[in-house]
Amino acid sequence: EMMKDVLGLTFLETTLKEKLHLDEVIVVSGDSDHSPLVKKEMGRACAQCIMNHLQDDEVVAVAGGTTLAAVAEMMIPLGHRRNVLFVPARGGLGENVENQANTICAKIAERAHGKYRLLHVPDQLSKEAYESIIEEPEIKDLLKIIRSAKMLVHGIGDAQTMAERRKTPKEDFEKIKKGKAVGEAFGYYFNQKGEVVHKVQTVGMQLEDLKNIRNVIAVAGGASKAKAIKAYMNQSLATILVTDEVAAKELLREL
Ligand code: G3H
Repeated sequence: EMMKDVLGLTFLETTLKEKLHLDEVIVVSGDSDHSPLVKKEMGRACAQCIMNHLQDDEVVAVAGGTTLAAVAEMMIPLGHRRNVLFVPARGGLGENVENQANTICAKIAERAHGKYRLLHVPDQLSKEAYESIIEEPEIKDLLKIIRSAKMLVHGIGDAQTMAERRKTPKEDFEKIKKGKAVGEAFGYYFNQKGEVVHKVQTVGMQLEDLKNIRNVIAVAGGASKAKAIKAYMNQSLATILVTDEVAAKELLREL
C-alpha cells in the first residue's frame, strides 16, 4: 500500500472510483499492452479482489479473453469459503480454446479448489437453435444457476480488435462498424455512449441480468482500451474496475 502511494496509484484509484461511481477501483503500475508481467499483476490483483468479496454458497460467473486467462493463472485457493461454484458467463463467442470462458472457468476453479460446471453449446447460434437449446433440461438447469450468480468477472476489449479476433460473420462485422462500436464485453459491443450496437447471440448471462449481481468486476488495462472501458462504464453496470496505470491515466484524461 505504501508503494502504491509513492507511485500515485492511490490517487488514480480514488479519482476514478469517484468519477465512474464505482464501489472500488484497483490500479496496478505499468502498461499491460506492452508488458505480460503487468497483465499478470492485473490478474493477481483481480484474483485477490474476487476473494475479498466472495462469500459462502455463491456462484461466480467468469467471461473469456486473455486478461481473464491471466486472472486464472494467478488464481488463489478459496480458503475458508464454502460451496463456491464457478460457471462460464455465456456460451462460446468464437474465441480460441485458451480464451474461451469454459476453459478459463475450469482453470480458475481448479486453482481455487472450487467446483465448476461448463456450458457446452456451439458458438454463433441461429435463432432456431438458440430457442431449442435453452429448452434442453440440462442446459436450462445450468442457465438458471448462471443467472443466479452473485459475482461476474469479465474483461473489456476494443471493439474492432475483438471482432477481428473472433470468427465474426461478415454481416455482424459490418453492424459493429456501422454502429461505431468502440468497446466490447462478454459478447456485447458498445458505442461511445455505452449503447449496445450488437450482441453475439448465445446463451447464458444477458446484459439485463447484471443489475441483479452484487459484484460485477471488470478487468482491463492498456491505453488501447481506454475508450472501450469508458464506453462500457457509461452503461454503469460494473461495480469494480481492475486496471493498469496507463489505462487509468488515459481514462482520467477522457472523463
Ligand atoms: O472477451 C474478451 C474481452 O472483452 C477482452 O479480451 O482480455 O483478451 O483483451 P482480452
